Formats: sequence, structure tokens, C-alpha cells
Amino acid sequence: MQGNLPLLKKNNLKNQEKILILGIETSCDDTCASVVEDGKVILSNVIASQHEIHGKYGGVVPELASRRHVEAIDIIINEALLQAKIKMSQISAVSVSNRPGLIGSLLVGVGAAKAISYSKKIPFMAVNHLKAHLFSNFLEVPEMGPCFTGLIVSGGHTSLYSVGQNWEIKEVGHTVDDAAGEAFDKIARFLGLGYPGGPVIDRLASKGNPSRFEMPRPMIESGDLNFSFSGLKTALIYKTKKEPKILDENNIADLVASFQDAIVDVLVHKTFKACRQSGFEKILVSGGVAANSRLRSMFAQKADSEGIKLYIPPIKLCMDNAAMVACLGYYDYIAGNFSDLSVEVYSRSDI
Ligand code: KG4
Ligand code: ZN
Repeated sequence: MQGNLPLLKKNNLKNQEKILILGIETSCDDTCASVVEDGKVILSNVIASQHEIHGKYGGVVPELASRRHVEAIDIIINEALLQAKIKMSQISAVSVSNRPGLIGSLLVGVGAAKAISYSKKIPFMAVNHLKAHLFSNFLEVPEMGPCFTGLIVSGGHTSLYSVGQNWEIKEVGHTVDDAAGEAFDKIARFLGLGYPGGPVIDRLASKGNPSRFEMPRPMIESGDLNFSFSGLKTALIYKTKKEPKILDENNIADLVASFQDAIVDVLVHKTFKACRQSGFEKILVSGGVAANSRLRSMFAQKADSEGIKLYIPPIKLCMDNAAMVACLGYYDYIAGNFSDLSVEVYSRSDI
């Protein structure tokens, strides 16, 4: 599992002053468009969430997601241009997530990007959504260099990467079952707290005691850098079946705080272990679960005590967004890595 980050320098573009990339993101249940200047200045970052549509089902319904993307995509792209005060004719190139994700959803964004590229005669870059999450950190710190450990922790993925001297990316660990965000979503659904589960558990947990209920730390001593979150979910469900009163109003905040703490504990443990093993001094965290307040404070504390530099993007850039897609597209653009209009979409993909 290897991939090269594009060269972080401008090639053959001496005459062009500003590079404006239109980013499009539709891999799951958010229709997103953004205009980013020179890979770092976010001129607009529009996100149309579908949470209301999927909330009542407790998870994303792929068919409904793609239909909503079709309805929203033109409006959201126009809104991104409007907010950026940029005309389509000023856009240098268009960048879009084409993998991994829901096929029907990806097709909408990729179709829109291809149409813009073809009609406006501008280059088009199809990028990896996971790599774009990693690149959300580059929006804040464009001068970021190798080497670092990257943790991508979202609704669909929980993976650890080692990014070496020549920008080679190697996956060093991944979840063997549920992703961390998936565990948050499933437990929120079980407790009837709504969708998406992460933010609502985060809020409720802030009023709870994370040490009140004992929760397992799955695979924390497994010796490798993999994760497992489905057993933790089962442990919580089992606890509530055995002792239904822990679902009472007075106990539930402690329960979700203890559950959240177990997830964060394992993520911190394995990420710093990966960093130590690689001999690196930097950790980048991204993906929707990186918005979690407990995760942010525990990673910060550990980084402080271990003398590691920690980068986590602002909350809006942790979740799915098109600014990260435009940012990654910028580096492809300056390296001349353009995609062909025949490029396809993929539900699964390594970085
Ligand atoms: O990166 P993302 O927006 O979409 C995917 O690519 O999956 O991540 C969405 C996931 C959901 O599972 C959601 O519950 C979780 O991120 N999430 C959180 C928080 N905000 C979003 N998990 C824990 N705490 C949060 N504050
Ligand atoms: Zn994502």
C-alpha cells in the first residue's frame, strides 16, 4: 500500500499568478464545493448536509444520498463560486473525490467535475478522499514537510499511515472491523440519540464521568497497529442489557463518556506507538472523528508530554469538505498529474 504525494513545488506555471482550484466532494452524504487559492487560501467552503434525510434511518441510505446529490450539486457549486467572488472562467482546474465512497454518490461529483472540465477546457484531477483528509492539515500548514504519522479516523475508515522522507505513504495499521465513527454512530442509534452519533455523544459525554464505567480497550496490547471497535460496541450493549438502569438520565452521560474514552484511549495509544516506531516527530490527525473534543484534548496532552508536534485541522475541516479536495488537487495540478475524462469511481481504495 504505497503512494506518492505530489511534489510540493510549482512546475511550469511561472506565468500564472494565482491558482484557483474548484473542489467537489460527494463521496458520502454531504454535497460539498469549495474554491481554494494556491492550495491554502479557502475562498469558500460550502457544505450541504443530508443529515436530516438519513437521520430517521440511523445511517446513510445510499440511494437517497445520490438522489440528493443530484438535486444539490449545481446549486452548491454556484454557491461556492458566489461566496468566493470568483467566476467559473477564472477557475484553473477542478478537483473531485473519485474514491473511496458510495458509488452512486461519487458518480454525481465526478460527473459534474468532468462536465466542467470538458466545457471550460480546464484540467481535472480525480483524487483519493482519504488522502484529501490527510491534506486538510496542509490548508492550515502549507509548509508541512515529511516525515509524519497520519491517523485518518472517520465514519468509514480508521487507518494509520507512515509518510516517509520521499512522501511515500505506507499504511501501518487499520481497523479489522468497525471504523471509530461507525462505532459512535451505531451506539448513538442503539441509545436513540440520533445521527450522526459522534457529535451527539461528544456533547453528552462532556457532562459525564469517563471513569465511571469500565470499558474494554480492544487490541490495545495486540502488538500491531490495528484497531477493533465492534467488541467495544457489544460490551456497551451487553452492559445495558445486564443493568438497564444505566440507561437512566442520571447515568447515560457517564456511559457514553466511558465509551468515548475507550475509543480515544486506543486511538492515542496506537498512533503514538506508530510514531515512536517510525522515529518521527510529527502526527497528523484528520477525518470526522478528529472533531471529537476528548480526542483533541487527549492527543494534545500526549503530544505535549512526548514532545511530538501534533496537527489536527479545525473542526469544519475534519469532516467531509471540498476544501481538502481542492487542496490535494492543487498539488496534483502543480505536478501536472491530471486525470483523463474516462476516469472511473471506486467504492474501495487504498491511499
Ligand atoms: O470524515 P467524515 O465526515 O465522513 C467520512 O468520510 O466518514 O466522518 C463522519 C464520521 C461520523 O461517523 C460521525 O459520527 C463522526 O465522523 N464524527 C464524530 C464527531 N463529529 C463527527 N465522532 C466523534 N466526535 C465528534 N465530535
Ligand atoms: Zn471522509
